[in-house]
Amino acid sequence: MIVTDAVSDYLLESRPQPDALLLEMEDHGRRDGIPIVVPSTGALLGVLAAACGARRVVEVGTAIGVSTLYIARAMAPDGLIVSFEVDPERHRAARTYLDRAGVGERADLRLRDAGEGLAELDREAWDMVFLDGIKGDYPAHLELALPLLRSGGLVAVDNTLLSGLVAEDRAGGGWSEEAIATMRRVNSSLLERSDMVAALLPVGDGVLVGVRR
Ligand SMILES: C[S@@+](CC[C@H](N)C(=O)[O-])C[C@H]1O[C@@H](n2cnc3c(N)ncnc32)[C@H](O)[C@@H]1O
Repeated sequence: MIVTDAVSDYLLESRPQPDALLLEMEDHGRRDGIPIVVPSTGALLGVLAAACGARRVVEVGTAIGVSTLYIARAMAPDGLIVSFEVDPERHRAARTYLDRAGVGERADLRLRDAGEGLAELDREAWDMVFLDGIKGDYPAHLELALPLLRSGGLVAVDNTLLSGLVAEDRAGGGWSEEAIATMRRVNSSLLERSDMVAALLPVGDGVLVGVRR
């Protein structure tokens, strides 16, 4: 928890009633132990996609498509989100859910390693990138992702506070000292870039956001 219980409860209570499909996806995530964005992070992703008028988005880590759905729903009808996932079962489930949600045409789901996939995308052609794969891959994925953004394009990175341990600078909850140090480096590397306007937000498990100048 990186905010108080009261704040966390209030955020959940004030969430607009999610539709049945999103609830089904959340149940699926809980049941199978699949990590998915918490509702406040999902809502933030939707706001960010809408704010930058996202038509072309790249995502690392589709899982079963929860974050993909938040973003796809906030995009223009002719928008496209390319999303990478390495787990075939999750990739298949995401395809089914997004088709059922009526945003299937906006979702180009790719069953492949994001490091390889990101390296093949056009540079300076994307409105938004969302990174949510393996945390140890964040430095490499961020380096590959930033050149993809157009000027004014936005990057968002999830779990950048790791339950608050990143702020306390200590291992715990399954996160090694190395993992914490890596996340601190990811945060400072984006926050200190002169070609980005960036902020670290205590939303969900921590979301690092940056806009390319
Ligand atoms: C935290 S989950 C993603 C959750 C999803 N963004 C959501 O909130 O609904 C991370 C996912 O990244 C996938 N993944 C891990 N390494 C990857 C890689 N190198 N390329 C693509 N996907 C990867 C995992 O299989 C896992 O499903």
